Amino acid sequence: MKKVAVIGSLFAIILVFFGIRRYANYAVKKGSSFMNQFENNNNKQQLNNKHESDEILTIYYSNSGATEKAAKYIHRQVSGDLVEMKLTPNYPDDYQQLAEVSKDQIDNNVHPRIDNLPDLSKYRVIFLGFPTWYHRPPMFINTFFETGHFNGQTVIPFTTSMSSGIDESASYLEKMGQNKKIDLQDGFRANNQTTIDKFIKQYQ
Ligand SMILES: Cc1cc2nc3c(=O)[nH]c(=O)nc-3n(C[C@H](O)[C@H](O)[C@H](O)COP(=O)(O)O)c2cc1C
Repeated sequence: MKKVAVIGSLFAIILVFFGIRRYANYAVKKGSSFMNQFENNNNKQQLNNKHESDEILTIYYSNSGATEKAAKYIHRQVSGDLVEMKLTPNYPDDYQQLAEVSKDQIDNNVHPRIDNLPDLSKYRVIFLGFPTWYHRPPMFINTFFETGHFNGQTVIPFTTSMSSGIDESASYLEKMGQNKKIDLQDGFRANNQTTIDKFIKQYQ
């Protein structure tokens, strides 16, 4: 009888031992696959973000630095590419000369060349920055719309100015963007971070 009890106990111990081992294996496997899934999701999330930010372009011209500051701030928020437009002829730094040259371009319908316009067709969203001159966009903005290759981009104009809002540029921008394959937004005046933050949230 004693012998039977000993054998029974041994058998029970063996059963418990293998049971625990099996459960431990299962738990480790389950745990690692959960971690893999988490890591994969995490990678995918990063790829998605990268993919989306790759499709955003912030392109601008700035003469005295205000629009550049705004463009760089926008770029820091939305990532993607940042391009400062190089123009021919270039504008003078001197205020009086700049005032004359830019007015003359309006009067004579001059469209300055943009020397480094990237292939716009690869972007989904384009932030287009310029200073307001004479209550309207500078004349090279005509060139941007004329020479850019568009296939459905959302174009978001932003301007810096002494006081003019983006609304003063609206009718000019609408005309320039007419019959282009773009989704032209109203845009915004980008003189301070609060306004910029408010607008770019919609497009992130
Ligand atoms: C020729 C010229 C015309 C301007 N016209 C206007 C205007 O119509 N309305 C306005 O609010 N500011 C006007 N400004 C001020 C600029 O829009 C403002 O200083 C802008 O932030 C400059 O941008 P930037 O530093 O990127 O060149 C004008 C400036 C210049 C040089």
